[in-house]
Amino acid sequence: MDFAMEIASLIAKAADMEPESIREAIEVPANKEMGDYAFPCFKLAKTVRKAPQMIARELKDKLEKPDFIADIQVVGAYINFFADKTSFVREVMGKVLDKDKDYIKSSMGEGKTIVIDYSSPNIAKPFHVGHLRSTVIGNALYNIYKALGYNCVGVNHLGDWGTQFGKLIVAYKKWGDKETVEREDIKELSRIYVKFHEEAEKDPSLNDEARHWMVKMQEGDSEALELWKWFVDISMKEFNRIYDRLHISFDSYAGESFYNDKMQAVVDELKEKGLLKESEGAQIVDLEEYNMPPCLILRSDGGTLYPTRDIAAALYRKKTYNFYRDIYVTALDQNLHFAQWFKVLELMGYDWAKDELVHVPFGLVSLGDGKLSTRKGHVVLMEDILNAAVEKTSGIIEEKNPDLPNKDEISEQVGIGAVIFNDLYNSRIKNVVFDLERMLSFEGETGPYVQYTHARACSILRKAGVEKPEKDIDCSLISDEASVNICKVLSDLPSKLVDAADKYEPYILTRHIVEICKAFNKFYNENNIMGSEGELKKARLAVVYAVKSAIAQSLALLGIAAPEQM
Ligand code: ARG
Repeated sequence: MDFAMEIASLIAKAADMEPESIREAIEVPANKEMGDYAFPCFKLAKTVRKAPQMIARELKDKLEKPDFIADIQVVGAYINFFADKTSFVREVMGKVLDKDKDYIKSSMGEGKTIVIDYSSPNIAKPFHVGHLRSTVIGNALYNIYKALGYNCVGVNHLGDWGTQFGKLIVAYKKWGDKETVEREDIKELSRIYVKFHEEAEKDPSLNDEARHWMVKMQEGDSEALELWKWFVDISMKEFNRIYDRLHISFDSYAGESFYNDKMQAVVDELKEKGLLKESEGAQIVDLEEYNMPPCLILRSDGGTLYPTRDIAAALYRKKTYNFYRDIYVTALDQNLHFAQWFKVLELMGYDWAKDELVHVPFGLVSLGDGKLSTRKGHVVLMEDILNAAVEKTSGIIEEKNPDLPNKDEISEQVGIGAVIFNDLYNSRIKNVVFDLERMLSFEGETGPYVQYTHARACSILRKAGVEKPEKDIDCSLISDEASVNICKVLSDLPSKLVDAADKYEPYILTRHIVEICKAFNKFYNENNIMGSEGELKKARLAVVYAVKSAIAQSLALLGIAAPEQM
């Protein structure tokens, strides 16, 4: 039971309004004397045209007090609700223990498909920290939607086609050799790619050669395609190593090259609908009317472009998955790109483009302490970040808990968990700072703090020999403020998940996990769990179990492990 929602329904019935809008207005007063939930009647003053204080008094008289509410009071323009502690605790604990590992799941998304385009790195280029954000945010959204019952399709829209391959083939033929590439993988590919750009500045004819190879690729030349395929395989090997460490996989790896044979149809359709215009030899869709620069569809040499491939991909996905939403998780520097081609689809007459295509942008990554920055001009690799976090964690464990079993596995879980947590702690549009020192601290809002709280709960249960708590607990025994507060944060968890999904903001969940941990640590400090006896001990252990289970389930949605010991 979502108490705020129940109260909203109560008010809605009395005020003859929709419960959803009232639910949004319900507050949780900071001062406990003002109740557990409060409804400010200012919100109704506009429609009811009475003084808010008067509305509050009249509305209160119309409310039927349900059992889970102990008291309803009016203070000024506020109607304050005091929950009946025992029935509140009974309701929440009953549900958490009963649903157990499915507590946060729901079926609200049933029958609807959400396509999530995330990670999507570029072949033959290193997987850098920007792709980390897309990967981590996209994966969290994927898990959140799945928990809400949506059918999810995770797409890795690999950047595996485009002019860079022509350049890479030229570079390989001039300065590369098979052995080195096989030994050094992407490192060598990026080295020769960078060299190509340096050399092309001195000798622009290299660019013509690159274009020539690109045309060959497009025409299906076997040598060109063989090299291309080889580059793709080398890159995928490296990307998969990272995905394995993050425990992430995709339902589809249909990248840009997948749409090669679907591009002509897009171009024809644009032409037919009178949307294509020639500009300096290229084909464009003019978007001046919408205050945007033109969307480039065909280059002057006939080559297709990034937006063209995205248009083809969206049409393909609509046809294949009949999505309810198609979500793109990329850095905010691609805002214009998405706004442009979303508009083009709309101009083509696809009305769904307006509401169903969603760009979910995120901010940049900066390196706090500078320790991870490499030589100037060199991108920071995702793997270096993960390695640094795991190494440092391993040092901390060695110092604090040298006898811990599975030290390596736990260092990996904690180190990588810290990186993911740090990424998902703030609104995604904010820049992320990689400050290893802070990320790995056990104090403050960090991954290790949350994982440690979970491990502490596990340790209590282990010592008490509880694998599964008994369900018939006496809820009147858990009436202290800290325990009731735990029930409150647990009861809010499902609606936080919905909120995170609605706003495409995993941080809403991340922060709520921190609230659960804080509530638990207060409970732990104030209540003697192992020292209590009988029914009281049984009830307290059930609370511990409920918290442990909620933290583990929530962390799993964020893609973070919840080790039982650390
Ligand atoms: N490959 C692109 C990049 O690394 C991201 C692709 C995002 N997805 C898309 N459908 N455009 O910047």
